[in-house]
Amino acid sequence: MSSTAPQIAIIGGGPAGLTLGVLLHKQNIPFTIFELRQKPTEEELAKPSGSLDLHDESGLAALREAGLYNDFLKRKAECSEDQLVYNMEGKLYWKDDGGMASRPEISRHALTTLLNSSLPAESIKWGYKLVKATSISTPAGPKTELDFGPKGKQTFDLVIGADGAWSKIRSLLTDVKPAYSGVQNITFTIRDLSTKYPHISKLVGLGSFSALGLRHGVMSQRAVQDSARIYIFLTTPDEEFPKTSGIAGRSAANAKEILLNDESLLGRWAPSLKELVTVACDEESIDNPDANADIKPLYTLPIGSYWEHKPGVTLIGDAAHLMCPWAGEGVNLAMLDSLKLAQGITEAYKSDLADFLEKLDPLLKVYESEMIERTTEKAEETRNNGQMLFSEDGAQAFRDFFVSFFGERNFEESNECPQ
Ligand SMILES: Cc1cc2nc3c(=O)[nH]c(=O)nc-3n(C[C@H](O)[C@H](O)[C@H](O)COP(=O)(O)OP(=O)(O)OC[C@H]3O[C@@H](n4cnc5c(N)ncnc54)[C@H](O)[C@@H]3O)c2cc1C
Ligand SMILES: *[C@@H]1O[C@H](CO)[C@@H](O)[C@H](O)[C@H]1NC(C)=O
Ligand SMILES: *[C@@H]1O[C@H](CO)[C@@H](O)[C@H](O)[C@H]1NC(C)=O
Repeated sequence: MSSTAPQIAIIGGGPAGLTLGVLLHKQNIPFTIFELRQKPTEEELAKPSGSLDLHDESGLAALREAGLYNDFLKRKAECSEDQLVYNMEGKLYWKDDGGMASRPEISRHALTTLLNSSLPAESIKWGYKLVKATSISTPAGPKTELDFGPKGKQTFDLVIGADGAWSKIRSLLTDVKPAYSGVQNITFTIRDLSTKYPHISKLVGLGSFSALGLRHGVMSQRAVQDSARIYIFLTTPDEEFPKTSGIAGRSAANAKEILLNDESLLGRWAPSLKELVTVACDEESIDNPDANADIKPLYTLPIGSYWEHKPGVTLIGDAAHLMCPWAGEGVNLAMLDSLKLAQGITEAYKSDLADFLEKLDPLLKVYESEMIERTTEKAEETRNNGQMLFSEDGAQAFRDFFVSFFGERNFEESNECPQ
């Protein structure tokens, strides 16, 4: 006979799922995380990955509760918080050293490593792709059957969907699906930037860099191994743009002519910015000679999406409130969800299943309504930031935004970007 202890599954081992796992483990509450990716190797985890800034009231609060804050301080990126904003003509519009905002950054890979380090290895099942989730009713109450295809089916009392944008668990609760945001995302990595391309290194600076105009953006974030992650964001109503533009299916090096020659894309941008894009495309293709340019439409869930509560199933992170990265909130909201949900589960936890479910249900309802309220506010902020960044003159709008916070600033005499 199986024990009556509650069976808890977390689907997805991203920041949300791992954080929840760490917090439950700390309370000696057993659970299993199912993650579709294979266990990453140390080599993969050492590669440059996007950087995430963690906010005091959310991401960092979850790490403190997990007892990982000191470890975090050791692993956080020694990266600068410098902020540079240029317009499409290569003119500097804003510069600050981030002195006002203390938001330590950590790479996505370092965060994964940090969270994993305090989870028992057997609590994560790597290489488990959830194919289908089904609500079933049993004499002991409602349960969820999880179908992992060739890896079989398993049944749980509490299932938490931390499975990101295209969540399978979400479809147990609502028909809402992510919608195209109007923005396409292309990503490149330039390694050894300061030694290979000192003038580009100087242009993008040591922290984050944005060049904005004509409703597009070229952005950079410095990352490990003296690298920079370069993101090109293009606004277009055409969701199929990767195909219709001809960029999909080409190498980054072969796609650059399309980006740089088309006047509706970056064709009218300054030579210094075009050179940055050229180097990014070429370096990406040198590092990944067989890969196609990494272009994808960005999706968001409709703002304020909610669902009618169902016992034994809930969502955290992007699965619940996927948004664009324009306010840098995604990972923070995800980790705050985990913190709040872990508190509810801990409060309800009893080794007796019936007691647990009865106590948990109202706590889940509270978690869900508070989560929807706080994320709706951040989703609105994110949308407003997107409208600002990707307006006709995004640099001016972004500058005005900073000025409204920090007041006017004077830059050095030479405002031009280094050529
Ligand atoms: C380019 C970019 C930049 C960003 N920058 C920032 C930033 O600066 N600050 C910030 O706060 N946020 C940022 N975000 C958002 C942030 O990365 C996400 O909000 C965050 O990762 C959400 O965590 P999550 O665990 O909910 O989802 P995810 O990170 O998407 O993790 C979901 C996990 O579930 C797994 N999974 C999916 N489907 C299944 C399945 N069927 N079966 C099993 N497992 C499954 C996936 O493999 C994945 O590991 C950025 C996002 C992007 C794309
Ligand atoms: C996670 O930690 C366990 C030890 O608890 C280790 O065996 C495993 O390799 C780690 N996985 C990753 C992806 O770092
Ligand atoms: C853009 O694409 C890259 C590579 O797929 C990905 O890492 C990054 O998260 C994407 N950015 C957004 C904002 O979705």
